[in-house]
Amino acid sequence: MLQDKKIVLGVTGSIAAYKAAELTREFVKRGAAVRVIMTGNAAEFIAPLTFQTLSSNAVHSEMYPVINDYNLAHISLAEYADIMVIAPATANIIGKIAAGIADDLLTTTVMTTRAPVLICPAMNTNMYENAIVQENIMQLTSRGYLFMEPGYGKLACRSEGQGRLPEVSDIVEEVESILTVKDLGDERIIVTAGPTREPLDPVRYITNYSSGKMGYALAIAGRRRGARVVLISGPSALTAPRGVTFVSVSSAMEMKEAVMAHLKASTIVIKAAAVADYRPATRLASKMKKQAGPLTLSLERNPDIIAEIGKKKGKRILVGFAVETENLIENARAKLIDKNMDLIVANDVTQAGAGFGYDTNIIKILDRNGGQVELPMMDKIAAADRILDRVKDIIAEKGRK
Ligand code: CTP
Repeated sequence: MLQDKKIVLGVTGSIAAYKAAELTREFVKRGAAVRVIMTGNAAEFIAPLTFQTLSSNAVHSEMYPVINDYNLAHISLAEYADIMVIAPATANIIGKIAAGIADDLLTTTVMTTRAPVLICPAMNTNMYENAIVQENIMQLTSRGYLFMEPGYGKLACRSEGQGRLPEVSDIVEEVESILTVKDLGDERIIVTAGPTREPLDPVRYITNYSSGKMGYALAIAGRRRGARVVLISGPSALTAPRGVTFVSVSSAMEMKEAVMAHLKASTIVIKAAAVADYRPATRLASKMKKQAGPLTLSLERNPDIIAEIGKKKGKRILVGFAVETENLIENARAKLIDKNMDLIVANDVTQAGAGFGYDTNIIKILDRNGGQVELPMMDKIAAADRILDRVKDIIAEKGRK
């Protein structure tokens, strides 16, 4: 999480400088303290007052003002930073850093800092593809500077190609990831998420209210902590998270097939999906027409995916979810044992702030030894981290490594 993280944001002279205002806002919204350094050219595109207002801090651009009574700006900002982000970064700033030029506050601070430096280029496609720029990026990458690839699309110069500043949400996610300790670097996690959709005819299906948010949060948290993540998702309105292998499925049968295909390579399986227990016994080839009187649908059981994994899980850690509306703990504990899980996350969806569609959750994590961790309402990424912490405990207890 970016809470209390100290970010020094360098803004350089590109038309994408206006997007750095949104970036500042997102960092601040997540609890980070942001100090902005602008180059002279950046100030041609956007007023320093914008960043001052959004960050609640004075904007830095001069080399030599004293910002406290013993330190020069470039030293104090360089030491202050948990991370430096240069967004947008022009060909010029990349070239100057690569050449070791330090002739203004931003380049001098980059030269001085020991914090990670994330550079987000934004420029005309021809400039970005220029061999000099590419060589500079390669050289800086080999020296430990971190880069994000610019996006494709329409550019301000009316051409189309690679050169757009990466999406603000992607930059924020990259910063979150860089600042997260990689304590799951050896793990390969399968996460299932979302509902399944069981077709009845070409225009109708049976499903449930799952939004996929908890599973996506687990995938994001796992990836930030260094795990390789395969996210197998039923239909969801959410965007596939960056940096995970994303597998889109629809029905429970498809989800089972995808899980089994990735099972061998996995060390942890987390089944956050709300899998439909039943599907229509026949899928009609053409649309069912209404008739007089009531209609009875014939349903048949879907495979219980987690129970099947439980039978052959080997040394994998298996985590399930129990979504309940009554007898939460008893029902969850029974599922934990019956399906041979290592942990079950119990979730009473009748509570406000818990369950389907919310950004928050109220969970209890039960283990096979009778242990139970009860967590207060928290956002789903924070809840995901607590689940992954318990998975780490189980790995340590089982002595897998
Ligand atoms: N699950 C699964 N395959 C199914 C049904 C459920 O893998 N066909 C998994 C879910 O992903 C979840 C766990 O089993 O991790 C518990 O799901 P839930 O539906 O709450 O439990 P059921 O065992 O289906 O029990 P019931 O519906 O009777 O409450």
